[in-house]
Amino acid sequence: MIQFDEKQYKTEVKVLNGQEIRYRAYYDMVYVEHPLDPHYQRMNIFVPEAYYLGESINGYTAETAPIFMPNQVGGYMPGDTCAPDLDRLDPTRPNTVFAALAHGYVVSVPAIRGRSLKDAEGNNIGKAPALIVDLKAAVRFLRLIAEKIPGDVEKIITNGTSAGGALSSLAGATGDHPDYLPYLEKIGAADTSDRIFAASCYCPITNLEHADMAYEWQFDGVYDFHRMHMSMSEGNRPVFSPIDGQMSEEERRVSKEEAKLFPAYVNGLDLKDENGTSLTLDENGQGTFLEYIKKQVLISAGRALDAGEDLSDKTYLTIEQGKAVGIDFSAYVSDITRMKNAPAFDALDLTSPENDEFGNEKTDLMHFTDYSQTNSTVPSAMADAQIIRMLNPMNYIGDDAAKKAGYYRIRHGSCDRDTSLAISAMLNLKLLEQRVRVDYHLPWGRPHSGDYDLPELFAWIDRICKD
Ligand code: DHB
Repeated sequence: MIQFDEKQYKTEVKVLNGQEIRYRAYYDMVYVEHPLDPHYQRMNIFVPEAYYLGESINGYTAETAPIFMPNQVGGYMPGDTCAPDLDRLDPTRPNTVFAALAHGYVVSVPAIRGRSLKDAEGNNIGKAPALIVDLKAAVRFLRLIAEKIPGDVEKIITNGTSAGGALSSLAGATGDHPDYLPYLEKIGAADTSDRIFAASCYCPITNLEHADMAYEWQFDGVYDFHRMHMSMSEGNRPVFSPIDGQMSEEERRVSKEEAKLFPAYVNGLDLKDENGTSLTLDENGQGTFLEYIKKQVLISAGRALDAGEDLSDKTYLTIEQGKAVGIDFSAYVSDITRMKNAPAFDALDLTSPENDEFGNEKTDLMHFTDYSQTNSTVPSAMADAQIIRMLNPMNYIGDDAAKKAGYYRIRHGSCDRDTSLAISAMLNLKLLEQRVRVDYHLPWGRPHSGDYDLPELFAWIDRICKD
């Protein structure tokens, strides 16, 4: 039996930046019956105290309040739970959990297993598909206890950034799909539904087995790379040092080969824009799909101009009468710069975070693309095809056996270089094809990051909950 004692809560008051919130906190609830890792397969739930007093917040009551479900997964590492507090990355402001509670949402923060976890025998216990299995189990737990705490389990909205955004996108695309059942049964997840109402996804690092080709298509011809290496100081603070370099001749050859693979993939998706125009690429990577991406960047620049931003130094933009009317895409890509060498995700020497994510119980690192397995520079094996499949929402969006979220919000900063803009664009288009309502935008000048626009995120949630 999965345990839940509705009397095991603490009533807390938290004041941050002059704002006070009162809530009941349920800490450290293990959300499955047979956890492989009790630290990570647990969650905290926070409920505004007002809902126990018969009051409402922003028009929500104990019955109608949405359940906001942020995850803290990054880099496909384990994601811990958290509590209302100052923001980890920006301690000048309250974190997302605090803001969501203040807004009137019930907040569930599941911890989630990740790629680095091992059991006492040294077996890996957090590799793919662990993260999506855990999030599903956490959603099922919320339905299991639905009668015991406030909040509407038919209004669960997941939220995450980067690998966490990928996780949110996967939760939205795969509700109740039988592929995940054996894994859920193994950990003793509740026998309820894991469908969600809506998915909020910031810069989702998803569609990993096509992310290398998409990256080289976008960054074709840009061969200098720039990124930050993060290490931990003795005081356990992140320290960043720049890594700048030029891709080798060999890496340039790999880049060209990967870029050549992308058009066939895009064309096979049979994507169409809102006017029904087919979005395709020719063998040189040119075509209507590229025009679609350019248009999204122009829309982004247009919104920035409308908000009064001065973009006159962005010489790759053509601005006429205050409107962004054209873009030199190659110049734009050179300007935002490349972050990763080729291949960007499935490293030929198995050194990427994604190689680690696709390991299995006994093997730490594996390939997940034919290209990198064929061209591997180290002894290697390919991840199980079904597991690669289960980590990609694109495979489930058109599958009737999946109960899809009705709503998505996708934000991918216009200068994000962790993955190609094509990745979020293809996700958006595939969802639209299946009549999912998607609020998709590339916020101008935003790098790889999330939760930077909580008032707009919450306004979207309020809109769709009333829809
Ligand atoms: C994340 C970033 C990456 O560049 C990547 O390859 C995987 C995950 C992240 O921030 O979660």
